[in-house]
Amino acid sequence: MADPEVAATGTAPPPSTEVLRVEHIAKSFGPITALRDLSLHLGKGEVLGLIGDNGSGKSTLMKTICGFHKLDTGRMFLNGEPYQPKSVDDARSKGVDTVYQDLALIDELSVYQNLFLRRERVLRPLPLLANREMRKRARAALDDIGINIPRLTSPVARLSGGQRQAIAVARAISGEADILLLDEPLAAMGAKEGALILELVQRLKEEADVSLIIVAHNYVQVLEICDRVNLIQDGTIAFDKPTAETSLDELNEIVIEQYRRARQEALADEAEAAARRDASAA
Ligand SMILES: Nc1ncnc2c1ncn2[C@@H]1O[C@H](COP(=O)(O)OP(=O)(O)OP(=O)(O)O)[C@@H](O)[C@H]1O
Ligand SMILES: [Mg+2]
Repeated sequence: MADPEVAATGTAPPPSTEVLRVEHIAKSFGPITALRDLSLHLGKGEVLGLIGDNGSGKSTLMKTICGFHKLDTGRMFLNGEPYQPKSVDDARSKGVDTVYQDLALIDELSVYQNLFLRRERVLRPLPLLANREMRKRARAALDDIGINIPRLTSPVARLSGGQRQAIAVARAISGEADILLLDEPLAAMGAKEGALILELVQRLKEEADVSLIIVAHNYVQVLEICDRVNLIQDGTIAFDKPTAETSLDELNEIVIEQYRRARQEALADEAEAAARRDASAA
């Protein structure tokens, strides 16, 4: 819904209500610590960009919020209430939906069947699937995004990576979620499909009833569509700024600095190992 104040000034107000809060969470996989003491918040109608190096913990964070992983320690709150999703379906029933980086479409099912996966519509009173209705709604959802997928009855195995991603995004968006987590939704998309998804995010943002966290590697896109950007480094949030207060140069500089530090540490480790070798040889 258009806010008259926003229309008058042309700028979005700061998020007034917090829909999600993550406090000091940690998650390990055996000896690997993927998330450590990580805190994050998301305002209503806000688009938060999550950036960070490969393996820094972005997907693990998304999968923890959406109920796929259980957290080891820490707490989460949804609309101010304690939030402990038991499963992805449980999170979805509470309004948190996800597009995974590793997609989760079922190859053998058709486009429309994938769109309604796990929330199939049935004809009452008979327990039959309402296929015609699902096809109609699937077409409307894809038209809404503007992605052209000619045959909704084709198995998704025959689609391109970008088309598959578009379906995953359409599924999440048509699901009436309050919070959408998009893990690299643009990664496999061509320029045209990517632009359509960005446009859609823009539209969702204007309607302001959905809040989004978008994982992305392209800083230009992050600065264009997000209200705020968080950088995750070694499993924790190392940088949190409104996009209006940062720049491509600043984001690049942080990442370059990170590489410099990692390289120096690697060189220091090597020198130490060499010194140890020399000492034991002497
Ligand atoms: N199921 C798992 N089992 C074991 N280790 C895992 C698992 N999932 C993630 N990890 C490890 O946790 C760390 C964080 O991984 P994660 O997938 O969250 O990174 P990411 O930031 O999403 O990286 P990318 O940009 O490459 O997608 C990595 O060291 C990864 O190997
Ligand atoms: Mg990832």
